[in-house]
Amino acid sequence: MKSKNIKKEDFGITRQMREARNGHKGAVIWLTGLSGSGKSTIAKALVTKLFEMGCQTTVLDGDNIRHGLCTDLGFSADDRSENIRRIAEVAKLFVHDANIVICAFISPYQKDRDFARSIIEDGHFFEIYINCDLEVCKKRDPKGLYKKALAGEIQGFTGIDSPYEAPINPEIEVFSSLSTIEEEISKITDILKKKNILMDKEI
Ligand code: ADX
Repeated sequence: MKSKNIKKEDFGITRQMREARNGHKGAVIWLTGLSGSGKSTIAKALVTKLFEMGCQTTVLDGDNIRHGLCTDLGFSADDRSENIRRIAEVAKLFVHDANIVICAFISPYQKDRDFARSIIEDGHFFEIYINCDLEVCKKRDPKGLYKKALAGEIQGFTGIDSPYEAPINPEIEVFSSLSTIEEEISKITDILKKKNILMDKEI
């Protein structure tokens, strides 16, 4: 820590108080996968489902965060790490306020995802690998970025000339080109129920 002489303040309304009122605990649902794999689509469906169940939710999404908090960052390995570090710290704050935080980032490096996991309490971090064949992502190309990367107009594009490290031990792996969005959402809500994050909630 760079600064000295700083001390944490306690604001009285505790995480436990918020969790009791919410009827669920705080948690991070970390969606990782290639661009075009379906992270944002799954995030959208999941936040809708959780909202309808009466949960307190927050969505942090790659393109959105890069328009604000992380406008100063590019796509070098160091910048991607810093991107994930900031997001993980933001997610931690929201988890402490008993939110279910859905994070949708390529997050290509295992060590960065491990850092995010390391700052959240055991059992409250769920790494969800949105596995989708690169060829399918290229075909989908929702933002036209693969086309640009393949034409050499974007350098360091994940899956083309920048690596993606598949999760070693994710809580869930979904094959987004082989399953329906409903199946994927049920897998996620099922594990949240099983691990008692959704304590008083019916799925
Ligand atoms: S991460 O690697 O740092 O986790 P993040 O999820 O924030 O990436 O942002 C990825 C989004 O930025 C992609 O969905 C895509 O729209 C856009 N993008 C622009 N340039 C690149 C690039 N070189 N590599 C990957 N995604 C890029």
